[in-house]
Amino acid sequence: MMKGLKEILVSTDELQQKVKELGAAISQDYEGKELVLIGILKGGAVFMSDLMRVITLPVGIDYMSVSSYGASATSSGVITIKKDIDTDIRGKHVLLVEDLIDTGLTLQHLRELFLMREAASVGICTILSKPSRRLIDVPIDYCGIDIPDEFVVGYGLDYAEQFRNLPEVWVVATGEG
Ligand code: IMP
Ligand code: MG
Repeated sequence: MMKGLKEILVSTDELQQKVKELGAAISQDYEGKELVLIGILKGGAVFMSDLMRVITLPVGIDYMSVSSYGASATSSGVITIKKDIDTDIRGKHVLLVEDLIDTGLTLQHLRELFLMREAASVGICTILSKPSRRLIDVPIDYCGIDIPDEFVVGYGLDYAEQFRNLPEVWVVATGEG
């Protein structure tokens, strides 16, 4: 076992199975529509690259990087865009691809941003979700796996920029063993 990690919470098999299911649902729902997948960096990159390969429709691909403030600073409704997309999404169907939805604040802001930019629709797809942590009831159109309120890493998710490359989702050790 790797130092600093406690146990595997979601196996690669379970992740890959869920990715297939989500890809099949998306392929069915967006048939005949102009779809652009927007991966949220950095965490969403691993899921994004798996997901795009199980979608059987022609899709556009882009990436965005944002920093979100903690719950205390959110009344301002601000997220900072560190890297924006370079696709013109006006009139196109946007699907935001995220690693994990926690409070829901980041995705809520991004959803509003793309509606303002006149996307034909804005969907949300996440591989992991912590429903018990939600502060905003953001509509998740494609939700992979619900997990408990534990800090997790792997499959794109980091702790201080470490562990993103682990193929499974792990619970971080708290120190008490
Ligand atoms: P929120 O939904 O706006 O609270 O933000 C969710 C984002 O916070 C995720 O995309 C992750 O980048 C990060 N995050 C939340 N929980 C965890 C975790 O357990 N491990 C690693 N990153 C997390
Ligand atoms: Mg993230």
